[in-house]
Amino acid sequence: MRMIIEFVSGQPGDRDVLVVPVASGAVPAALDRLPADHRAILAGAIEQARFDGAAGTAFEGWLSQGPLVRRLLLVGTGSGDAAGFERAGGALTARLQISGATSAFADLSGASADNAARFALGTVLRGWRIDRYRTRLADKQKPTLERVAIAGAGEGAEGAWDRLRAVAEGVAFTRELVSEPGNVIYPESFVERCQRLTEAGLALEVLDEKQMAELGMGAFIGVGQGSVRPPRLLAITWKGEGAADGAPLVLIGKGVTFDTGGISIKPAAGMEDMKWDMGGAGAVAGAMLALARRKAPVHVVGVCALAENMPDGNAQRPGDIVTTMSGQTVEVINTDAEGRLVLCDAITWAQRKYKPKTIVDLATLTGAMIISLGREHGGMFANDDALAARLTECGLATGEKLWRFPLGDAYDKLIDSPIADIKNVGPRDAGSITAAQFLKRFVEGDTRWAHLDIAGMVWSDKDGPTYAKGATGYGVRLLDAFVAAELEG
Ligand code: BES
Ligand code: MN
Ligand code: ZN
Repeated sequence: MRMIIEFVSGQPGDRDVLVVPVASGAVPAALDRLPADHRAILAGAIEQARFDGAAGTAFEGWLSQGPLVRRLLLVGTGSGDAAGFERAGGALTARLQISGATSAFADLSGASADNAARFALGTVLRGWRIDRYRTRLADKQKPTLERVAIAGAGEGAEGAWDRLRAVAEGVAFTRELVSEPGNVIYPESFVERCQRLTEAGLALEVLDEKQMAELGMGAFIGVGQGSVRPPRLLAITWKGEGAADGAPLVLIGKGVTFDTGGISIKPAAGMEDMKWDMGGAGAVAGAMLALARRKAPVHVVGVCALAENMPDGNAQRPGDIVTTMSGQTVEVINTDAEGRLVLCDAITWAQRKYKPKTIVDLATLTGAMIISLGREHGGMFANDDALAARLTECGLATGEKLWRFPLGDAYDKLIDSPIADIKNVGPRDAGSITAAQFLKRFVEGDTRWAHLDIAGMVWSDKDGPTYAKGATGYGVRLLDAFVAAELEG
């Protein structure tokens, strides 16, 4: 069910939950906006509940208005900035989505257009869920909230929301791709799901296995060869009206639709998580949808490197040597280090085809990154300080944070192979860095390049401020902001 956001004036309807945002320490001011005859009891109740307006927290109460009993929800905006409003919007949905309430009226009097739009964004993002496989969901567990009316927001809130709504749509698409299991989303069906992007004005180009072989993508094909689901390379192009002429910005996503590890097979426990090993490709596809929906005046190509990593009689073996499209040979020491193998050929292909000045790749590349940064930051590697700085900024602005890691020759040496040009794994130490060094060997000339290892960010085992547990949609907002900063500034 899609939640409807409306910007309105006037008063709440009889069945609307009244929602009021409250900044940290601003409970007294909020009370002034509530019916005078309720203030004393609400003040007491709020105090006893220890609600203080911290971002993302909520207080639920009741108003008796003539014959009506009205639900009241106070939602904390913390410091009252856009991020705080976003969390407050998320709290609204978390509290009301399956509460029985079908509509809410948020009194955002005094909020800026930006804050109101971010409130709406939080509301919508927190409401995304995938119920398609829950055929026995009890009625009481079903979502009821259909509509959120936002009143009193500053001039231009609706316009600001229009832009963010496009981004929310992109996030939803990414979450859908990431949530679907490996038997439903595999390289061909990923491409199939992306056909709907053409309705938004995006152009798709697909390479099949044969075409990839002709281009010499031996590393990419090697990963897919143990699967009955053949690999695909998908390029999604957006050239908006007003875009500058010349080479596009290129985004590349790791799209391993299921990663068993191959012959270097993973342990059984938790292997189901590897259905979201296509989270980089999912983020790229969602970001492309966002750009198209908001008709961004930019030229961007999103490349999804799609393969399934399976053990099989035809699977590649540890020790196999493959030749990449770049001509460099790779000794495949560990078939579970497959992400870099699909990405390296995608990087070469994108450079040859588009001659981009800038490439950003996103990949659930290493478990080591989760050990390093947990689930708070994506790891970033870059060969250009200005590019890294811009990505860092966009991470902070959107809440999809990044933390930069080093690159260097001493790390690079660790992936020299005794028999081929490169080996696909180094020692255990610095596993995320050597993975990045591997990719760096495929970046040509003065191409600016950033690699985002998002292994810890794609999936969450618990609810967050703007997502329910499961697929987070990480990367879409970051990429959308990055494209805006890079090409629309
Ligand atoms: N897809 C995994 C990385 C991963 C692990 C992502 C856990 C999300 C959660 C990747 O293909 C992989 O298996 N990497 C190996 C590399 C190793 C063999 C050098 C890893 O991290 O163990
Ligand atoms: Mn792997
Ligand atoms: Zn993987």
